Amino acid sequence: MREKLQEIKEKTLAAITTGDINLARLEEIKVACLGKKGSLTAVLRGMGGLSAEERPVIGQLANQVRQDIEKAIEDTKARLKEEELNRTLRRETIDVTVPGNKAALGKAHALYQVEREICDIFVSMGFDIAEGPEVEYDYYNFEALNIPPNHPARDTQDTFYITDRVLLRSQTSPVQIRTMEKQKPPIRIISPGRVYRSDALDATHSPVFHQIEGLVVDKGITMGDLKGILETYAKALFGADVKLRFRPHHFPFTEPSAEVDVSCLLCGGEGCRLCKGEGWIEILGAGMVHPNVLRGCGIDPDVYSGFAFGMGVERIAMKKYEIDDIRYFYENDTRFLSQF
Ligand code: PHE
Repeated sequence: MREKLQEIKEKTLAAITTGDINLARLEEIKVACLGKKGSLTAVLRGMGGLSAEERPVIGQLANQVRQDIEKAIEDTKARLKEEELNRTLRRETIDVTVPGNKAALGKAHALYQVEREICDIFVSMGFDIAEGPEVEYDYYNFEALNIPPNHPARDTQDTFYITDRVLLRSQTSPVQIRTMEKQKPPIRIISPGRVYRSDALDATHSPVFHQIEGLVVDKGITMGDLKGILETYAKALFGADVKLRFRPHHFPFTEPSAEVDVSCLLCGGEGCRLCKGEGWIEILGAGMVHPNVLRGCGIDPDVYSGFAFGMGVERIAMKKYEIDDIRYFYENDTRFLSQF
């Protein structure tokens, strides 16, 4: 029995210490030796047949063998686990010094940056933002703006018709009407948005573009207020040096009407390629709200007066950034857009 114990010990320890030992194999060895049907367990069971003097001696030896084997298994298990952990740590090391992948960040489109900048200037002067639909009634786009059917002003603003009465708005001016219908003076609004005209696309025309409308109505509003507001606006947007020029013009919904120019942003007035030798750049149309328009919205023109203005966002952005082709705005080429 002594030899048998010695043999079990040697075999088991030899199996544990082979080079290709792993945790699963270790568990098998443990079961084969110490398990219910294990070799050592079998020996211990057979101790009943020993003599009274032999039993404590062999019993002690058997215990020693079991302790040795258990210890060898536990030690090996601990070593294997540590090796496994170290492998995992090595595999999962993160090199924090490797340069990261830069996430491409989007930003507002050049046109909307300009639109926002313009609106901010007016908001800082106490204007509210108003919005109106792009699909509009003929009534708001033309008739209520003093442009009856067959009026020649319709020719310059030919647009896309959904039905005889419904169209894509050709200007943001219908927002004037919608605002005055639901709000009584004092009114002070700015209204940015998309407008449509049946123009062929070329370097300076697009069938879709953007305008910003302004409207002020109150008691005692004069052309002087219009000039003051527009001058403050132009200096805020283009710089304190710009001068404004009002040229008489005609819009059916304002009287008197004007087209407004700023002194050239590039040459300051001498004449260059940006202003096409003019020294001036047209930036908007404006005028005093026509009495017919006020009356049509239920506002008494003998009590109230007002002014309105409208500007093209593309045109202003093109002059501000010296962009010579309107199509760049719509092509979504990031080489262009990322410059703003
Ligand atoms: N709506 C006019 C246009 O598109 C501009 C304008 C607006 C003129 C308000 C006067 C007052 O040409």
